[in-house]
Amino acid sequence: MSEYCIELENLTKKFGKFTAVDNFSLKLLPGKVYGIIGPNGAGKSTTMAMIMGSLHPTSGTGNVMGHDLGSKEALQILGYSPEFTSFYDDMSCVEYLWYMGTLSGLSNEEAMEKAISLIKQYELVDHAHKKVAKFSTGMKKKVSLAQAMIHDPKILLLDEPTANLDPTSRMEILNTVRTMVKDRNLTVLISSHVLTELETVIDHVVMINHGKLIMDEEISTAQEKFKQGILVVSCNNNELLFEKLVGKYTVETARDSIRITADDVNNLKKEVVRVIFENDLVLNVLHEEVLSLDLLYKQALEGENGNE
Ligand SMILES: Nc1ncnc2c1ncn2[C@@H]1O[C@H](COP(=O)(O)OP(=O)(O)OP(=O)(O)O)[C@@H](O)[C@H]1O
Ligand SMILES: [Mg+2]
Repeated sequence: MSEYCIELENLTKKFGKFTAVDNFSLKLLPGKVYGIIGPNGAGKSTTMAMIMGSLHPTSGTGNVMGHDLGSKEALQILGYSPEFTSFYDDMSCVEYLWYMGTLSGLSNEEAMEKAISLIKQYELVDHAHKKVAKFSTGMKKKVSLAQAMIHDPKILLLDEPTANLDPTSRMEILNTVRTMVKDRNLTVLISSHVLTELETVIDHVVMINHGKLIMDEEISTAQEKFKQGILVVSCNNNELLFEKLVGKYTVETARDSIRITADDVNNLKKEVVRVIFENDLVLNVLHEEVLSLDLLYKQALEGENGNE
């Protein structure tokens, strides 16, 4: 049996003549959180829908723990919170969750028990008997996430789970994801455009552009690859430090620090420490700038556009 819990091989999805997903191959290891990022229309939602079997690939194959995409066995392993969920007009929150539970194979009693527990966990108790179709966008998102968890899936596909949520709810959702991953060794594939928040939960970054996979890396490896040799330094006299280094290096002043670019950061570190020591300055901050997911995204896309 493969060590991977999802394997996608050369998945392609065409809508008429338009190729939305193009020869996309990806393998997911269990227990890891994968962030799938890319511009609007890149093919993220289409890829997730193919993993769920709700869209059939035009070509290519895939499996979920050895089961074909879209098979009953695969669907039992997967929990899915789609980008947009449509709710039945006449169902209350508890009825909807119960119904989704029964659809996923739980008995009536099990489904009700699980529905009630998720309603508590997602703080929807006051709304349990109201019609979901009339919920606010953020509340619907929570119901959609609860629905994805109803049958205790091993793998979660979350398509923009925090879109339209208020800051507290976003944090709650992300904390829930973190806790679930830790406690249940869940595998998660999560898409989001809010990269600053995504980078706090993911281990691995998958980037897609025009339907093609353009990055598939551990986040730390990707950061290392795109590292640009920038040192952020602050001392009790940044102006003097600036004067001593400018000319030799590219130095910029930021609000409370200076940013120095060098090909050899280790040598630069030694030099900064020497200047600090020789001028009797007090060093407050010295660290290498870690590339944010935002910058990584920008650089990877610029590289791609340069290749076109
Ligand atoms: N049912 C469909 N019929 C025709 N074209 C479609 C269909 N579904 C998606 N597409 C097209 O496929 C491309 C990929 O769409 P997809 O929804 O997967 O993008 P995405 O990466 O999820 O974007 P976003 O960040 O905006 O959610 C888009 O150009 C979209 O217009
Ligand atoms: Mg989408």
